[in-house]
Amino acid sequence: MAALSGKKVLLGITAGIAAYKTTFLVRLFIKAGAEVKVVMTPAAKDFVTPLTLSALSNNPVFYSFVGKEENEELWNSHVELGLWADFMLIAPATANTLSKMADGICDNLLLATYLSAKCPVYFAPTMDLDMYQHPSTKENIEKLQSFGNICIPATSGFLASGLEGEGRMAEPEDIVQFIEADLLSKLPLKNKKVLITAGPTYEAIDPVRFIGNHSSGKMGFELANRAAQLGAQVILISGPSNEKISHSFIKRIDVISADEMYHATHKSFEDADIVIMAAAVADYKPVEVSNQKIKKSAANLTINLVPTQDILASLGSKKTKQFIVGFALETNNEVENAEKKLVAKNLDLIVLNSLNDEGAGFQKSTNKITIIDKFKKKSEFSLKSKAAVAQDIFDVIISKLHE
Ligand code: CTP
Repeated sequence: MAALSGKKVLLGITAGIAAYKTTFLVRLFIKAGAEVKVVMTPAAKDFVTPLTLSALSNNPVFYSFVGKEENEELWNSHVELGLWADFMLIAPATANTLSKMADGICDNLLLATYLSAKCPVYFAPTMDLDMYQHPSTKENIEKLQSFGNICIPATSGFLASGLEGEGRMAEPEDIVQFIEADLLSKLPLKNKKVLITAGPTYEAIDPVRFIGNHSSGKMGFELANRAAQLGAQVILISGPSNEKISHSFIKRIDVISADEMYHATHKSFEDADIVIMAAAVADYKPVEVSNQKIKKSAANLTINLVPTQDILASLGSKKTKQFIVGFALETNNEVENAEKKLVAKNLDLIVLNSLNDEGAGFQKSTNKITIIDKFKKKSEFSLKSKAAVAQDIFDVIISKLHE
């Protein structure tokens, strides 16, 4: 249910017997990680109580333009409800409500909310079979679809009238699956494979000591999260990090050293469509790793270091279809140095962060970046949370993929 996680769902309930099934719908949306608010027609309250729906959704339930709170009259804003939602679902949608929606009539809060909503609207019709077959109902459904609303068709089966035929509201599980599939099909990175590295690498000196750096992994993890939200299948290769992530689209592979990261990234590179190297890879590693703990002595200790392989440069040299993004953390001649890395490593974009910017860099929850493309075009961004920075980076990547 990845596409529903974090989504704001506005459930509109009208007066059909299937209204009792909306209690299950609310539970399913919440289980999928969505937030639910309910708006009902006044007559729908005869089929399912606002109290039940409020308890299940953990939100107030709206059914009239005026609400009451401790003897005060409050205006329930249909505009605000519509703006709050990522999508609206009208289920069950009776013949009466469908006809009013088609004609722009808004004599209750649900209809006014529908008319002012800017988000996608799904509707799940329910009625007796003859009503469902009536030309006016068919025309109303077609008209609503022509406005961009999405119909979740009724199914066949036993109807409350005792008759059997088409007109049953789709089952709650099927409605949720339908919406999930529809949302996924519209995500900009669906069917894309994204490879992301994060965190530091540790280069062993002996069994207890290593050379490392202060990278927390936050930026790479936020990028992985964002890619998954956008519908991508993500492989996140992380050096030692305390960051946690859980999303069905993200496969996390933990590594320790630069060598391990090199092999893990190369293994997944060929299939990847987008590669982002956000890891702070060690540039050097000890020539020899002592098998035993090195004992202290009065003399100075010299550890010989050799360069690690530049993972990003090695991937850049193998590039075929991949869109490759590197990071550059600089302290001086920032833009010049970043541009050199962009060319030397055969990248499509480089994300520059300067340690001179307050709030940017390791162990921070914020970052301030400049993105430079192959043509040296720069986009500068203000100081933001790393989650917001991840959004900006993917906005740029997606716009470049469409160029
Ligand atoms: N990188 C890499 N492998 C390395 C070193 C760096 O893949 N052994 C990647 C980083 O993940 C980053 C980019 O290269 O995306 C630039 O890293 P950075 O440390 O800024 O640059 P370096 O090339 O290491 O150059 P310098 O340290 O001299 O600035």
